[in-house]
Amino acid sequence: MEFFDTIKARRSIRKYTAKAVPEEVIEKALDAALLAPNSSNLQTWEFYWVRSPEKKQKLIEACLSQSAARTAQELIVVVANPALWKKTNPEMIKFIASVKAPKLVLTYYQKLVPMTYGLSFLAPLKWILFNAIGLFRPITRGPVSFRDIQEVSMKSAALASENFMLAISAQGFATCPMEGFDERRVKKLLKLSCMTRVVMAISVGEADEKRGTWGPQVRFNREWFVKKV
Ligand SMILES: Cc1cc2nc3c(=O)[nH]c(=O)nc-3n(C[C@H](O)[C@H](O)[C@H](O)COP(=O)(O)O)c2cc1C
Repeated sequence: MEFFDTIKARRSIRKYTAKAVPEEVIEKALDAALLAPNSSNLQTWEFYWVRSPEKKQKLIEACLSQSAARTAQELIVVVANPALWKKTNPEMIKFIASVKAPKLVLTYYQKLVPMTYGLSFLAPLKWILFNAIGLFRPITRGPVSFRDIQEVSMKSAALASENFMLAISAQGFATCPMEGFDERRVKKLLKLSCMTRVVMAISVGEADEKRGTWGPQVRFNREWFVKKV
């Protein structure tokens, strides 16, 4: 499908048919998700493709048994896992050292990333430091706390989610992103650590005639949102 047609074709579908989604369709969309831009290329995201019927049933219940989950053929849970930096940062250091990157980039991964991701218990100190320096020159004001680091991971995981949904749409199937779920239950089901955040669950299937969209796609006055300053 042409790029803008794909964007226009995507809707949040809440009723799917019984048609199975070929495995390759999901795999291709997962590959597209992994190509999303992400903070410092640390790729602190995880995609749980819930396939066991028992787990799927529990996930549907954790998604409040909403129709988008209940009628879905496939369910994917997108997770932000900042702790993955411990695995990915050494890989980035190896990569940066092997290419012609400025020395500052290597220093960033060797010094700044461990400080940011590893020393979140120093949040109050970091906050004071950033804000003191910020009085005199522009400086990034975060992340300082562990919550901020989770937020960074969540932004990247959300971008990956959109890549995933567009890739499904481009292959003629439909999706619905869901934040209507019991995060604690989803974490328990997937045995996720307390450091993670569940960004969204995404249901996949062939859109039923009824779709569950309640009508055409609604977007409000463009001027409310697009500011040319
Ligand atoms: C982060 C996020 C969470 C959402 N959670 C739900 C949900 O739990 N259940 C649902 O039916 N739709 C959910 N949606 C879908 C939105 O309702 C939908 O995107 C919006 O109404 C616009 O419709 P469209 O996607 O068809 O353009 C969610 C969308 C996003 C981006």
